[in-house]
Amino acid sequence: MSKLELLEQKNKQAMLGGGQDRIEKQHAAGKMTARERLLYLLDEESFVEVDRFVTHDCHDFGMEKKKVLGDGVVTGYGAIHGRKVCVFAQDFTAYGGSLGMAFAKKICKIMDMAAKIGVPVIGLNDSGGARIQEGVISLAGYADIFLKNVLSSGVIPQISVVMGPCAGGAVYSPAMTDFIIMVKKTSHMFITGPEVIKSVTHEEVNKEDLGGADAHASKSGVAHFAAEDEKHALTIVREILSYSPSDNTQKAPVVKTNDPWDREDEELNTLVPENSRKAYDIKDVIHKVIDDGKFLEVHENYAQNLVVGFARFNGQAVGIVANQPNWLAGCLDTEASKKGARFVRYCDAFNIPLITFVDVPGFLPGIKQEENGIIFHGAKLLYAFCEATVPKITIITRKAYGGAYDVMSSKHIRGDVNYAYPTAEIAVMGPQGAVNIVSRKEIAQAENPEEKKQELVDHYCEKFANPYKAAELGFIDEVIYPAQTRKRIVQALEMLKSKVDLNPKKKHGNIPL
Ligand code: HXC
Repeated sequence: MSKLELLEQKNKQAMLGGGQDRIEKQHAAGKMTARERLLYLLDEESFVEVDRFVTHDCHDFGMEKKKVLGDGVVTGYGAIHGRKVCVFAQDFTAYGGSLGMAFAKKICKIMDMAAKIGVPVIGLNDSGGARIQEGVISLAGYADIFLKNVLSSGVIPQISVVMGPCAGGAVYSPAMTDFIIMVKKTSHMFITGPEVIKSVTHEEVNKEDLGGADAHASKSGVAHFAAEDEKHALTIVREILSYSPSDNTQKAPVVKTNDPWDREDEELNTLVPENSRKAYDIKDVIHKVIDDGKFLEVHENYAQNLVVGFARFNGQAVGIVANQPNWLAGCLDTEASKKGARFVRYCDAFNIPLITFVDVPGFLPGIKQEENGIIFHGAKLLYAFCEATVPKITIITRKAYGGAYDVMSSKHIRGDVNYAYPTAEIAVMGPQGAVNIVSRKEIAQAENPEEKKQELVDHYCEKFANPYKAAELGFIDEVIYPAQTRKRIVQALEMLKSKVDLNPKKKHGNIPL
């Protein structure tokens, strides 16, 4: 056999991973192989593999006779929308994608490369977890990866796609990345599976309800996206990255649009009802003002009282944070605060300007909320907005009551440009509540208490429930015509392009976790 033939043979062998029968099993389970996934994820012809011939050095349980070229993980680099990315894809056909030392070293090598060259890392997870035959060595391998996840956090975007099992401590690498995308029906994440739970707590649950994509995308919030299938999941990765820079020293690419920057939309003038008790969908406002109505919503089914996601204005990527009056009246609760804080911090870390739409009656009252720590969870969102130094543009569409007014990127916490609609009500609290507190005696003693109360409510509304006092004080830069929202945001973004703002030098802050 010539030397070239030997190389050819080895390459062919490596392509088969754990073998043809296991590849067929993978397909039968509705899953692509690691290589097929990478080819789908990356721009055509862009994938370059590294470490194709790496094997383990384990001699226990007959492993010395079971060597698979690549050791169960495919690593390398390629491009997404023409920009470089580093990737690894766990190969379930080889040792169930389980992680041993050689496997971990391959991942660490590609993560190091990504950090050095300043590009995102995308990990495709499909693994039985720590490789049992390698014992504690595999735990060490996980820890090496965890450390790199943390050191790269906020430096390069890190995205995890869970496309099969991901259990035990193995969940913590995805958990420390910026986004988790799970595939419906074929992916599961949990610390302990249904069997262990049954034996320890006697609770019965199936793996879908415990750790399936829908469960994590709607209940725990662990998953940011629940994809319909593998191709959908990989498409989401490409979309997220289109709104992100390659690393924290750069800005997201500008994407050309034919949507006129100064497009006005008359419907916006009446979309927000004047009656502050009437609900509306803030996503209708968002879709009308962004480029081509294109919005990539993050955590769509989790804490729906706060909407977060990516969009563009005149080609420039932004992160949008918006209260949703259609859900819990737009109140901030523990989950919405956590969701918002994490998103704000991603945008701030990666120089993505923040556009905040405010219609918030306050923090959600209730015993459960207090028991669950609304105080420190709410503080997360406040902290994140305070800390953010990216351009911050805020539009108050209607209610901005109490502490929640301060939290939602107000002028006082370094909002750069703060607009209000004429329907805005900026006050310590809603008129009914306020009057009940400050005029209780006056109402009780009145000849007609109902009439008196209405009179006081009207007075309160005239005095406080409008944007003009805040505008007089400069807390609002301008009360805008809603139809012109897009134009005003584009102008503000343009003005803020060269913004520089720094936080004091420190090791790190102490966000209330
Ligand atoms: C070594 C493993 C393995 C593992 C699977 N395999 N998991 N080999 N270490 N952890 C191998 C199997 O022996 C089998 O090899 C092949 O992968 C496919 O596995 P199957 O069981 O046939 O597949 P399936 O029926 O689809 O079940 C998949 C599975 C199951 C649910 C993942 O294999 C499983 O429960 N595995 C163990 C999971 C686990 O407990 N891992 C440790 C978690 S603790 P052959 O040669 O027969 O095809 C952990 C700690 C991390 O990960 C700590 C970090 C700090």
